[in-house]
Amino acid sequence: MLSEVPPGVDPSTPSPARMYDYMLGGTLSLPVDRVAADRLKSLVPDLLDGVWGNRGFHQRAAVWLAEHGISQFIDLGSGLPTQNNTHDAVHKVLPGAHVVYVDNDPVVAAYSSALLAGDGTTTLITADVCDPAAVLGNAALRSLIDLSQPVGLLMTALLHFVADEADPWNVVRQYVAAIAPGSYLALSHFTADNMPPAQIEAGVMVYSGTATGIYPRSREQVQRFFEGTDLVPPYDGAEPALSHVGLWGAEDLEAADSDGARGLYCAVGRRG
Ligand SMILES: C[S@@+](CC[C@H](N)C(=O)[O-])C[C@H]1O[C@@H](n2cnc3c(N)ncnc32)[C@H](O)[C@@H]1O
Repeated sequence: MLSEVPPGVDPSTPSPARMYDYMLGGTLSLPVDRVAADRLKSLVPDLLDGVWGNRGFHQRAAVWLAEHGISQFIDLGSGLPTQNNTHDAVHKVLPGAHVVYVDNDPVVAAYSSALLAGDGTTTLITADVCDPAAVLGNAALRSLIDLSQPVGLLMTALLHFVADEADPWNVVRQYVAAIAPGSYLALSHFTADNMPPAQIEAGVMVYSGTATGIYPRSREQVQRFFEGTDLVPPYDGAEPALSHVGLWGAEDLEAADSDGARGLYCAVGRRG
């Protein structure tokens, strides 16, 4: 449980960042987050499968990018420090890789020390990802990221917290236009396509109590985030295509596939 409530945090409103931390077994949540997450868990039995499936995709995609020569990462909507943070994962492949975390939740900023590697390779900036010019123009980001060189842009379990009115497709388009050819976009997104309608309604209802709400999107809508990139095959032997979070990068496809993990589409696309 959070030892103190940082300034700017309303302790009566659940936050997606703290609920996600709680679902992953973390301790940086408030009672209001745990009540909301427990309610969701009781209504969506496969919830934790989806959450862990997403986190697994995030880590496998980051490692895959490092293995393909990406040495600088922008982790948008990074979330609270957790096990195997992005820099922990990619440093196992490329110890000097630079990682900039971006989140707008004040608790992420207050508890960011585990995101800071201590060797100058990582930083956190507090910003709204829907303002790409401010994010990419941020001096701390620029001190670690050279935008003339390929980057790994991570947007996992983020854009379903952005309403259509904010045009998340245009947001992604601006980031993709700003990154160098040879960069990659790794993105996952909640969908209603593969889950019982009652469970989707439960998710939308519980998240309507947060500051953002949640917006499940169809396969076609998620596919459109990858405009301007060429998708890579999600696993050995697959065609380049959107996948589910459990399957991407999985070695044992049968074991990796689950109803919960079908709740999020994902892909990695290369900017040509
Ligand atoms: C479910 S967590 C995902 C964490 C991590 N990306 C992952 O997939 O494991 C979503 C994160 O996005 C952040 N977020 C949501 N909307 C945002 C926005 N407009 N700007 C910055 N961060 C945002 C939340 O604060 C939260 O930490």
